Parts: sequence; C-alpha cells; structure tokens
Amino acid sequence: MEMLVIEGGQPLTGSVSISGSKNSSLPILISTLLTNMPCVIANVPKLADTDFLTDLLSSFGANVSRNDKRVDIHAQQIANKLAHYDVVRKMRASVLVLAPLLARTGEAIVSLPGGCAIGSRPVDIHLMGLKQLGAIIDVRDGYIYAKLKGDTFVGNEIELPLPSVGATEHLIMAAVLAKGTTVLKKVAKEPEVVELIVALNQAGARITGAGSSKLEIEGVTSLAGINHDIKPDRVEAGTFIALAAATKSDIILNEVCVADIKNVMDRFADAGVKFLELEGEKGARLRVSAASRLQATDIETAAFPGFPTDMQAQFMAAMTVAEGTSNIYERIFENRMMHVPELRRMGAEIELKNGMARVKGKPKLSSAPVMATDLRASASLVIAALAADGVSEVRRVYHLDRGYESLELKIAGLGGNIRRCQQEN
Ligand code: UD1
Repeated sequence: MEMLVIEGGQPLTGSVSISGSKNSSLPILISTLLTNMPCVIANVPKLADTDFLTDLLSSFGANVSRNDKRVDIHAQQIANKLAHYDVVRKMRASVLVLAPLLARTGEAIVSLPGGCAIGSRPVDIHLMGLKQLGAIIDVRDGYIYAKLKGDTFVGNEIELPLPSVGATEHLIMAAVLAKGTTVLKKVAKEPEVVELIVALNQAGARITGAGSSKLEIEGVTSLAGINHDIKPDRVEAGTFIALAAATKSDIILNEVCVADIKNVMDRFADAGVKFLELEGEKGARLRVSAASRLQATDIETAAFPGFPTDMQAQFMAAMTVAEGTSNIYERIFENRMMHVPELRRMGAEIELKNGMARVKGKPKLSSAPVMATDLRASASLVIAALAADGVSEVRRVYHLDRGYESLELKIAGLGGNIRRCQQEN
C-alpha cells in the first residue's frame, strides 16, 4: 500500500489547474450506453474511478479507447447485461448502468451496491422510479433482476421523496428513451445533474427544466452520439480553497466554474479568505488569498445550492486552525465524520454530537501518522498535514486516487513538501 509523506507548516504559492469533474464524468460515461452511435467525452480526469468505469463499459461490449483525457465509446451492441457484485461494490455509481441496459436490451441484472463507509446509501428511490417507468424489479440474493414490461420505458409523473443526485441521474437516463413524457419532481439540482442533461440534449434528448426541481422529459426513439467536454471539478476546486485557507497561502486556481462553488467560496469568505476572479483561456481563474488566521465559521451541509457534503471534511480541516469555535452540521450522510478521530490525532480539538462537530480552533496542528477512510476524509487529512508543523504520514492513499487527479504533484507544484512512498506493514 502507498502513503503520502507530508512536511507541513509552510504557505503555498503559484497556480494549479483543476481537472474535469469526477462526479460529472461517471454518469455521462454511463449514459453513452444509451446510444448505438460513437461518443466522445473529453476532459475526463485520470482517476481510479474513471478507469474502472471504462472497464465496466467494455464489459457490456462497448468499444472503449482512452487517449489522455479523451474517451471514445461506441456501444453499438450490448453483449452482456450483468454487472457483477465484484464490480458494483467497488464503485457505487456503477448501479446507474441499470437504466441504460434496460433501455437498450429490455433486461439487466445489476448487483446491489451495498453499504459504504459514509452511510447506508440505499437505492430504493432509484428502484421506485424505474418501476414507475415500467420496469419489473425483483431484488434477491444481493442482485437487482430487472425487465421492462413492454419494449421501452413508459413516461410517468414521479415525485422523489428526497432529491437524490444518483436517483435523479438514473431516472433521467431511463426517461430519455421512454415512450411518452416523464415529469420528475423534487429532483436534485446539482451541477452534475445539469451537465448530464446538457450532454444528453446535445445528442437529441428532450429534457427541460435543468437546474430546477422539476424536469420534463419527452421521450425520443434514439439518441445520436454524445459529444461532451466535462466541466471542472467543483470539489477539487473547493479542496484547493480549503488547502490555501488552512496554510495561509495565496494561490491561483486555473479552470474553475465559479457559479458551481459559490456557496463554498461564501463560507470561506466569511472565514476571512479573499477571492479575486481573473479571466482565463478555459473558464475563470480564481485567486485565493488567505494571509491571516481564519475566523471560525459554521456550516451545514445541504443539497445544491447549499454547502456540499463533499466539502464538509475539508472545511473542517481548515477550521481546526481557525480562531474561535465553529459548528459543522452534516445533514446528508449519517456517518460522514470519520476524519474526526484522525484529525484529533493531529491535535485538533473536536467534539462530536449527533452529526454535529464542534471544532475549537488552535493556532497550529501537530504532525502524526493518520489513516484515510474515504475519499473526502483523505483530502481533509492532506490539508491538515500541510497545515501542521512536522512530518505526517497519510496512509491508505488509494482512497484519494479514486477522486483526485495527481493530487500530490499538484500540491508539489505549489511548493508543498509531499511525496508518495510505499507503506510498510
Ligand atoms: C452523489 C455524489 C457524492 C455526493 C452525493 C451528495 C456521485 C458519483 N456521487 O452521490 O459524491 O456526496 O451525491 O451530494 O455523483 N438516498 C436514499 N435512497 C436512494 C438514494 C439516496 O435514501 O435511493 C439517500 C442517501 O443515503 C443519502 C442521500 O439520499 O443520505 C443523498 O444521496 P445521493 O444524492 O443519492 O448521493 P449519491 O448520488 O450516491
């Protein structure tokens, strides 16, 4: 296993480019199964999760080739309709293949994703919606056995019990090739949902209402090839903001979509971070300046446009060195505080109570060996290690590789003292 060895305590300088969004890439790559025409998806970040997904698409008989950040996919025929447990357990988002497989072939067998580190994360809303669009679903032995009643999905009006991002994306994919019109209410408004809609509409889907809580989808009989350039990753951008804030740094982020990270920027601005938008060739450039000690600020995670749960751990890492006490409420996932014991090992003062963390800021953290438990928790430990005096080890770095492209190279490019080593155990 590999680990990151980080010597902290120094501010960072320079500029860093933000990669394409992981959470946009996954559903958009999966949506290429909906068409038998060639698709080109550009600016796909090179991550364990995107590599894994291209392998999954090949397993269904799609022709997939990757050239740096460009992925060409041609699912002319679907040769296999089974997504095995060994595949789905590694990446929860792979359950979204169910609707495209059903739309193309009329049947599919997909493993249940099971629990995961940050909470139980069921797929009941996905299955409830697919049933209402004409699928017959039987869950047994850990698998979802699904069939369409007729030749296609059939449009319907569906209200989601909560605005699940994955369920919204899944039901959009089912409805684009349905017979008739589908109305989806109380859907997720996250930028990744909007981006999926843009990509599908460009290929001939008829979806209106993107970015609102009600979508109307007029089914079409087929889609053209999907050609799409993935937008910058808002969580990676937010992570670098947290990094700059915790280390009192002045850095520039290249290729940022400011509208997607407004809420994150607002909370860091409340904590004293200054932002300056600059023009760039590809999207905005954002200067992030955190010259003085942060002021404690409260956050509460919520669905978009609220503060993203995927930024909670990184924000908390920054608050461990703020002046004053901040209250951090996690409202989306029930078990997303696993970074707390690890941050405490670095000297952070954090009390946990019913999904709320009370963080009493200290002038400095101290170095320690710590262990990553999930993707965003790992990022918070890297931030804390860079803010701490001394040499820290962040172990189980494979979690980071799932969602951050070349993180240590990017941090080293900003002058951070960080290197990857083999972990002995
Ligand atoms: C996506 C993101 C993830 C992010 C999350 C919330 C991807 C690949 N992942 O995950 O990074 O943290 O959105 O912004 O895009 N729920 C149910 N039943 C369901 C589905 C969800 O109860 O059928 C619950 C979940 O347990 C959770 C909440 O709804 O408490 C939100 O989950 P959801 O929005 O579905 O997250 P994901 O799409 O899995």
